[in-house]
Amino acid sequence: MLSIVNIEKTFQNRQEQKLLQALKDISFTMAAGEFTSVVGPSGSGKTTLINLIAGFQRPTRGAIRLQGRLIQGPGPDRGVVFQEAALFPWLTARENIAFGLLNLGCKNAEGRRRALHYLSLMGLEDYANSYPHELSGGMKQRVALARVLALNPRVLLLDEPFGSLDSQTRCELQDLITSICWRQKTVLFITHDVEEAIILSDRILVFSPRPGQIIGDFQVNIPRPRRNHPGAVQAWENKLQNHLGSNSQGQLPV
Ligand SMILES: Nc1ncnc2c1ncn2[C@@H]1O[C@H](COP(=O)(O)OP(=O)(O)O)[C@@H](O)[C@H]1O
Ligand SMILES: [Mg+2]
Repeated sequence: MLSIVNIEKTFQNRQEQKLLQALKDISFTMAAGEFTSVVGPSGSGKTTLINLIAGFQRPTRGAIRLQGRLIQGPGPDRGVVFQEAALFPWLTARENIAFGLLNLGCKNAEGRRRALHYLSLMGLEDYANSYPHELSGGMKQRVALARVLALNPRVLLLDEPFGSLDSQTRCELQDLITSICWRQKTVLFITHDVEEAIILSDRILVFSPRPGQIIGDFQVNIPRPRRNHPGAVQAWENKLQNHLGSNSQGQLPV
């Protein structure tokens, strides 16, 4: 459904007048309904990958196709959530969610109804009329997720969406995203937290340090809910940490 073929991304570093290669030779495909995570060290091009799939940037080489169509810019078939929820501060939670719907031509009453539906899905029905500054970090991320889900995109692109939350809120949101998305949405989830990737994903791609290359591709077969299998989660964590660690010295696996 989403195919990424031989992607390379090189930036021009203005100060030093030299080229910086962020991603090298990235190829993978994602099937509909698959939950895939990417883990890798800071600077390995994870956010760049999200920007390319979202259509905010163009690859230097290679092609990205969604349903066979070349991605040439942003579109409502892809929904993006970043680490910091970029909510409009002058709109309520409900209005923030309805905003995109109305932009896409949804009628006012229908937009308000759908916004409320997604707010309740996130457990925030009592906060429909609250402004972003009245919400906690976790609540803001819930609104950001609701806003994207309400547009019913084919692919969800999540770039460390829980990265700035405390560990309890983080666990709650991991469970929420699993219940809403697993086997229902196609998700690309970026994280540098290996345990989070294991709790959430059907498949985990491991990136090397810059330039990001895929140095591991794992199908995680732990039964769900995964928190009920802490031993298996720990074993997978050791395996992935070893993989990340041994490869950060530049030894690529065969
Ligand atoms: N717009 C840009 N211009 C120049 N360099 C960039 C730009 N965006 C990212 N980079 C560089 O590309 C590399 C990968 O960045 P990024 O994708 O943000 O990594 P990650 O999300 O894995 O931490 C970094 O070295 C970063 O400095
Ligand atoms: Mg990043």
